Amino acid sequence: MQKMKAIIYQKRGAEKLVYTDVEKPVPKENEVLIKVVASSVNAADYRSMRLGIVPKRKIFGADVAGRVELVGRSVSLWKEGDEVMGDLSGSGFGCFAEYTVAPEDKVIQKPVELSFAEAAAVPLAAITAIQALRGKGKIQKGQKVLIVGSGGGVGTFTVQLARYFGAEITAVCSTRNAEQSRMLGAQTVIDYTQENFTRTRQRFDLILAVNGNEALLTYRRLLAPGGTYLMVGGSMTQILKSLLFGKLLSLGRKKMLAVSAKANMADLEFIAALAAKGQIKPVIDRTYTLEQMPEAMEYANTGHAQGKLLIKVE
Ligand SMILES: NC(=O)c1ccc[n+]([C@@H]2O[C@H](COP(=O)([O-])OP(=O)(O)OC[C@H]3O[C@@H](n4cnc5c(N)ncnc54)[C@H](OP(=O)(O)O)[C@@H]3O)[C@@H](O)[C@H]2O)c1
Repeated sequence: MQKMKAIIYQKRGAEKLVYTDVEKPVPKENEVLIKVVASSVNAADYRSMRLGIVPKRKIFGADVAGRVELVGRSVSLWKEGDEVMGDLSGSGFGCFAEYTVAPEDKVIQKPVELSFAEAAAVPLAAITAIQALRGKGKIQKGQKVLIVGSGGGVGTFTVQLARYFGAEITAVCSTRNAEQSRMLGAQTVIDYTQENFTRTRQRFDLILAVNGNEALLTYRRLLAPGGTYLMVGGSMTQILKSLLFGKLLSLGRKKMLAVSAKANMADLEFIAALAAKGQIKPVIDRTYTLEQMPEAMEYANTGHAQGKLLIKVE
């Protein structure tokens, strides 16, 4: 049995994340074995850890960029050496390791214009942003969009994609992220440490609650007639409130909906093409090695990372 290095999550014991040797995975018929070059951290990793929801192989990490090393018997899309990227949140995670396996249709070709690091910082966060804006948000050019929590992985992609779609953006973040949100495309930035954004007189066609915790009625009040509020993330109370009362508050012309992003290759192809053309760019805050994963997770857990945390594996 061949071995590889990985970060495994232990439910019990003082040390939760352990850098150790584990069995190198073997691809099933329809799977590819990927030599991971880079991965990145998502809230899905640290939040699942907190809730004790652990992948079967005990290895977190949804985002991957790497090279195909071996293909299963029935794989037709890929061959050894192909450079791929993907979001494996729907297919077992497992990317905080030297090797991972993925169903052949859960990865796309990495554009040559993107480095492995850039490619690894894109998938889950950008898929979430595009599914919120273009999916349930049905964003239109010229719309007024409020993005609450513009500083993190999902937030930085949401601002850039909203700009790409021609929206007029108001972003809410803390002081340290204000300039970044402006650079990424927000016309107005409200620093939540200085100003209560809910007091704005502006009304919005689309509100994306990516982080924070505000009353749903407050968000509803900030919607223009016919506007849509989308709960993307935030505190557990924000999430629960949206799930419990969203439908009720959607009676009438304003809609209060929740986003549940799913790994989708068409969406990822669309985003990767934009990134390859330089129309969106992953914002990478800090880079760690696989061995430094506990440190990365500790920082991610603060909930105040600026963009993405990259894990360099190779
Ligand atoms: N619905 C879905 O399918 C889906 C998919 C992916 C993620 N999510 C959720 O989306 C959220 C963001 O995910 P992520 O990966 O982007 O997390 P992240 O990178 O860890 O988010 C950190 C960012 O959140 C900002 N933030 C923290 N508290 C804030 C507040 N009170 N108001 C405004 N901004 C605040 C921080 O900026 P400051 O330092 O400026 O505060 C920081 O830049 C999480 O709740 C996650 O669970 C949902």
